[in-house]
Amino acid sequence: MNHGREHDPDWHNDGVSQPVTQRVLVLNGPNLGRLGKREPEVYGSVTHDDLRLHLEGTGQGLGLAVEVRQTDHEGEMIGWLHEAADADVPVVLNPAGWTHYSIAVADAVAQVPIVIEVHISNVHAREDFRRHSVVSPYALGVIVGLGLGGYDLALAHLAAIRD
Ligand code: DQA
Repeated sequence: MNHGREHDPDWHNDGVSQPVTQRVLVLNGPNLGRLGKREPEVYGSVTHDDLRLHLEGTGQGLGLAVEVRQTDHEGEMIGWLHEAADADVPVVLNPAGWTHYSIAVADAVAQVPIVIEVHISNVHAREDFRRHSVVSPYALGVIVGLGLGGYDLALAHLAAIRD
């Protein structure tokens, strides 16, 4: 993905100019490891493991090397965002509960060149406190309320803007 940097990380810097698969991190925040068990009427019956396998497959179809991670620990999430910032890897992020109050997560997101924020549920049709995201100002875009398909749409967009 070329962000106007000196080199294009889509290509090996080995003088051979072989295209390499673009890495993407899909990062899920607290309680999303309980997908399938957690409020299935809101979040559905698909587990996080199923979602991970599905998104890895979606990535393969799009020529993206997708790695899906989930944590309930804010410091771990911030470390992953720093890793993405340092490696210039785009991120699909569901910050879950942190969305609504974590300035620390928002500050880390601000350092990552491309972040697409995803929410499985329509946060605007739920409790008032879910309507505000401290992360959105630093996101390229936000996908809300389209279920797990929101992650696929985010990956499709990253593939579309890759070149
Ligand atoms: C969520 C919405 C958040 O308000 C909530 O705290 C979550 C999941 C979603 O994907 O719809 O944990 O981010």
